[in-house]
Amino acid sequence: MIHSAPRLRMIPVGDDEMNNAKSWVHIADLGKHVGCLVSVRGWLQAHRSSGKVAFLQLRDGSGFCQCVVAADVPDAFAKTASLTLESSLTVVGEVRADQRAPGGFELLVRELDVIHIAAEYPISRKAHGTDFLMNHRHLWLRSPRQTAILRIRHRLIQAMRAFFDERGFTLIDTPLLTPGAAEGAGTLFPVDYFGDPVYLAQTGQLYLESAAMALGKVYCFGPTFRAEKSKTRRHLTEFWMLEPEVAFAELPEIAELAEALVMELVTTALRDCQAELAHLGREVAPLQKIALPFPRCTYSEVVDLLHSGQVRSQLEADMVAAENRLGELRAQLAEAEEARGGARKQWQQERLDQTLQQVREEIREVETRIRNLPAHMESAATFAWGQDLGGDEETIVSRQFDAPVIITHYPKTVKAFYMKPDPQDPRVVLNLDMIAPEGYGEIIGGSQREEDEHALLARMDEEGMDRAAYEWYVDLRRYGSVPHGGFGLGVERVVAWICGLRHIRETIPFPRLMGRLTP
Ligand code: 4AD
Ligand code: MG
Repeated sequence: MIHSAPRLRMIPVGDDEMNNAKSWVHIADLGKHVGCLVSVRGWLQAHRSSGKVAFLQLRDGSGFCQCVVAADVPDAFAKTASLTLESSLTVVGEVRADQRAPGGFELLVRELDVIHIAAEYPISRKAHGTDFLMNHRHLWLRSPRQTAILRIRHRLIQAMRAFFDERGFTLIDTPLLTPGAAEGAGTLFPVDYFGDPVYLAQTGQLYLESAAMALGKVYCFGPTFRAEKSKTRRHLTEFWMLEPEVAFAELPEIAELAEALVMELVTTALRDCQAELAHLGREVAPLQKIALPFPRCTYSEVVDLLHSGQVRSQLEADMVAAENRLGELRAQLAEAEEARGGARKQWQQERLDQTLQQVREEIREVETRIRNLPAHMESAATFAWGQDLGGDEETIVSRQFDAPVIITHYPKTVKAFYMKPDPQDPRVVLNLDMIAPEGYGEIIGGSQREEDEHALLARMDEEGMDRAAYEWYVDLRRYGSVPHGGFGLGVERVVAWICGLRHIRETIPFPRLMGRLTP
């Protein structure tokens, strides 16, 4: 007979208690059942066995818990031998608080039932390339890192909706099949609509404006589509946008609404997503520094900044920092390669492979940065008033501040037809772009809208737009037109920033990118 170690000895329980254990408990609630028998069901995420005890790490969607199966529970112990990664099972066991256990609790297993033995799981602990993981996105979603991101995304979306609901906004669902462009014809996705071409919506805004004239304060939240031919870390072809629209609001009020929303999202993440942010290794100090009001500057001030000596010396310092970093990384690479050669245990090799892959990836990034920096300095120094701000320029501006920065008054030629020109300087529009800190780029774009029928028509003619297709939109300027405005927040850009992710592709369950439509 095998004697269980003292710490595995179970409290005596009667048959009744064993029957009660059939009521399912979520792992997240284990803390309420310490000392009791409970039933848990989930998927096997990791396992190891010493021959006397098997340790099973179970995931049930609400959390993770270690299940300890001692050899002196022979039925259950025998079944552990057949378990493969991601097999699904139910266990009945006694809940114990254990600070060393991941999640803080463990189950001393009495009964174990297999629901399904998984085939060999393709995703292992060893380093997988991004393409492999993206091809297995339907399975990759189960990893603790991906579930942490999905939970943060969910919490942020909840907070976004609550923000507007609590302020008296009405949710309006705008169409996804639309007859024309709102954000430039260049990024439209055509769809065959019974023989006629229609397009996937780039924004709900135009429809939302009409609802604002009915309900005052409205918002929409849904998927939007852009045939962006850019393979960047910030662009998806299908992304979710949150758009409020407010009747009687002018630019300053829109900017205040935008900063209050983003502040609320940062506060929510810091308060409610600590465990997930920690799991992602997200340094929270930069988020903690954010406070209202956010800095504001005009496009023209940005142009002056780009030409300034301050930016020049910052970029020079970047070059030095990048070269130093490259030196560090190359040393790390050499060290890890040497250790890999000497590593005997498979798990050590796997861990080193992962490190090697990360280091190589960062080396490629730093090398690219070093290659691009001279051109980047040149383009900042020679940036001409009237050009649109690109990602590089946005990053330069955002680095001057701890909080997101609101840039207003862009040249009207780089912005959408519906934006209202500034009466003080008609070369620029009453718009705002909010740029996230830490190089995450534009998270919000919005404006005050042109509310004058004739000015709007003239602007549409300049853009060569078909008046007939937008008659209904111009109508809003014919029947009780009022100043109004709003903005759109890109959900995935915000999630990428708050989670500190290098690439936007992990922020959405099934990303659609220029080169990816599967799974
Ligand atoms: O600046 P954009 O194009 O603004 C609009 O569509 C307006 N109609 C919104 C409004 O005023 N109601 O897009 C808004 C935001 C951007 O700031 C960015 O965060 C996100 O949507 N976005 C994208 N996110 C991911 N991939 C893309 N291709 C994106 N394009 C825009
Ligand atoms: Mg924009």
